[in-house]
Amino acid sequence: MQCGVKVSEIRNQKPQKLLPLRHPARSRHDEACPQTGPKAHNPKYDRIFEISTTVMEAVISLTDIRKSYFLGKQELPVLKGIDLKIARNEYVALMGPSGSGKSTLMNILGCLDTPTKGQYILNGKDVSRMEDDELADVRNTEIGFVFQQFNLLPRLTAWENVALPLIYAGAGKAEREERAKAMLEKVGLADRSHHKPNELSGGQSQRVAIARALINNPSLLLADEPTGNLDTKTSVEIMDLFSKIHDQGNTVVLVTHEEDIANFTRRIVRIRDGVVESDLLTSQQPAIKEKSSHGI
Ligand SMILES: Nc1ncnc2c1ncn2[C@@H]1O[C@H](COP(=O)(O)OP(=O)(O)OP(=O)(O)O)[C@@H](O)[C@H]1O
Ligand SMILES: [Mg+2]
Repeated sequence: MQCGVKVSEIRNQKPQKLLPLRHPARSRHDEACPQTGPKAHNPKYDRIFEISTTVMEAVISLTDIRKSYFLGKQELPVLKGIDLKIARNEYVALMGPSGSGKSTLMNILGCLDTPTKGQYILNGKDVSRMEDDELADVRNTEIGFVFQQFNLLPRLTAWENVALPLIYAGAGKAEREERAKAMLEKVGLADRSHHKPNELSGGQSQRVAIARALINNPSLLLADEPTGNLDTKTSVEIMDLFSKIHDQGNTVVLVTHEEDIANFTRRIVRIRDGVVESDLLTSQQPAIKEKSSHGI
């Protein structure tokens, strides 16, 4: 059964009054829906949660984002008009078939690429109009990016990898080492700080990459298939870590092919053929009958 309404429908409504500043996602689970028993959610809280995201400042606001690649003179349109708002402390999964444009969209969200057309406002700044050096600045201060392949530098130790963004931020060596080791401790890797990437497991490597993404306290944590190279148990551990990071107040957007991984998040945006096909709270998703390849 579907308790509630689509995110886009609610977003177009005017909030009637300011809502109390509670943790929005948690509050909708505080009280069970009386008709559907203790495990179901209360639709009243879906509504409060969604209206509160319209009141809260959007971290991400995309309007008619389009992206084409050009092969010679031939245009290959990939994103064909994406409208999307993500508020502070949301936890969102982007899903969709292979080739639908998820990574293209994530690269734009992460300021690794720019749209061909459309507007991207990140924390109130129009980044779609920025030059490369301004974008590099935004990337370093506002965004943490986690990749499927971890992208650690092989010659550096775990703590040196985590500290890399601090070099660009101008921190001295002692401060870099102290902060990087503290961050490794937060992701459960205090005892691996002097290991090189080839001395770490896949899950440990991804934890190092997550620590590196968080080292500058970004306002947005992005992850493109962060569990794509991991086994089931390790995937769950990494998702537990993302959930903890979200619970601490961070805004998290990740791409996944796995329904079970997406179910760790609070909202699932499905992309198909370069447009948003659906945008629903995780609790509103139709039941998935097929087991994922992870089998979680
Ligand atoms: N640099 C590029 N030049 C030309 N075409 C590209 C480029 N990058 C991506 N594409 C094309 O854009 C489309 C979308 O690619 P994208 O990587 O965003 O898909 P995706 O949804 O992330 O897929 P997957 O789930 O397989 O990772 C694909 O058809 C791809 O071939
Ligand atoms: Mg991709």
